[in-house]
Amino acid sequence: MRSVVITGATSGIGKAAALGLAAHGFQVIGTARTTEKADKLTAAAAESGHRVRAVLLDVTDPGSCQDAVAEIAELTGGGPWALVNNAGLAVGGAFEDVSEADARAVLETNLLGVARMTRLVLPSMRRRGEGRIVQMSSVAGLIATPLNGWYSAGKYALEALTDVLRREIAASGIRVSLIEPGFIDTPMLSEGIARLPAHTRYAEAYEAAGRLIARRRPLGPDAVARTVRRALTAPNPRRRYSVGHEARMARLSRLLPPATVDVTMRACLRLNRV
Ligand SMILES: NC(=O)c1ccc[n+]([C@@H]2O[C@H](COP(=O)([O-])OP(=O)(O)OC[C@H]3O[C@@H](n4cnc5c(N)ncnc54)[C@H](OP(=O)(O)O)[C@@H]3O)[C@@H](O)[C@H]2O)c1
Repeated sequence: MRSVVITGATSGIGKAAALGLAAHGFQVIGTARTTEKADKLTAAAAESGHRVRAVLLDVTDPGSCQDAVAEIAELTGGGPWALVNNAGLAVGGAFEDVSEADARAVLETNLLGVARMTRLVLPSMRRRGEGRIVQMSSVAGLIATPLNGWYSAGKYALEALTDVLRREIAASGIRVSLIEPGFIDTPMLSEGIARLPAHTRYAEAYEAAGRLIARRRPLGPDAVARTVRRALTAPNPRRRYSVGHEARMARLSRLLPPATVDVTMRACLRLNRV
């Protein structure tokens, strides 16, 4: 049975992927930040008739990462076959509105945490001569939308770092894929909107962004979970998997003149009066 570790498996995409992969015969280890959430994850799996084991992990804490990977090595007889770097944090807000502490938190979680966990599992994958790394990127890693700068900066950097990693380790038998979802209906989306600051010069733009997002019909997390499974089961996994139409639109927008993209985004987000 192939083992897979999914970081941030207590909610949204990570939880859907953990339950979905367990149902398809993987030995799943999901990570959680608290024992309470870990227990809820294992109970949810048991309710659906499957087994997911939970390990405590905060990806921003190097000691926690080391402890988690040591525990995972024991559970998997040396190390996991696959790692899905899913844990993530959304910090929205205009460039001028995001504090350095919030910027640091999003990069610590969405970029350095991913790198840390990947570095820790690579030695056992190398020894085995095979393995899979799946990185949960985003449409925000393809197009930089106003009011989402630091989240985009982290995901753009994740795209770059993953391209580099894939090229560096191609001879090792370890395959690396990026998943680029558009809007997905999870707590991250709603909490991100709720946390936008009020009473700033960008207040009208935040309202416009909230209205635009509210008009969308986001896919559910199962759509991304199915794509994670494709990346883990394909004999030759792709470098990138898009989920939802936003990622395709983002790629198309790269073909447009930059001035057109700027004007359209500014108009949609009511930024012309800021
Ligand atoms: N939702 C979208 O529209 C969307 C679109 C594209 C990409 N994504 C990406 O998909 C991934 C999952 O997001 P989601 O939408 O499923 O969000 P979510 O429901 O909020 O889940 C985020 C998960 O990450 C965990 N997490 C956060 N900080 C962590 C840390 N420091 N250490 C360990 N775990 C941590 C959370 O744990 P707790 O339960 O303890 O908070 C939770 O399990 C993220 O990488 C996100 O950037 C989301």
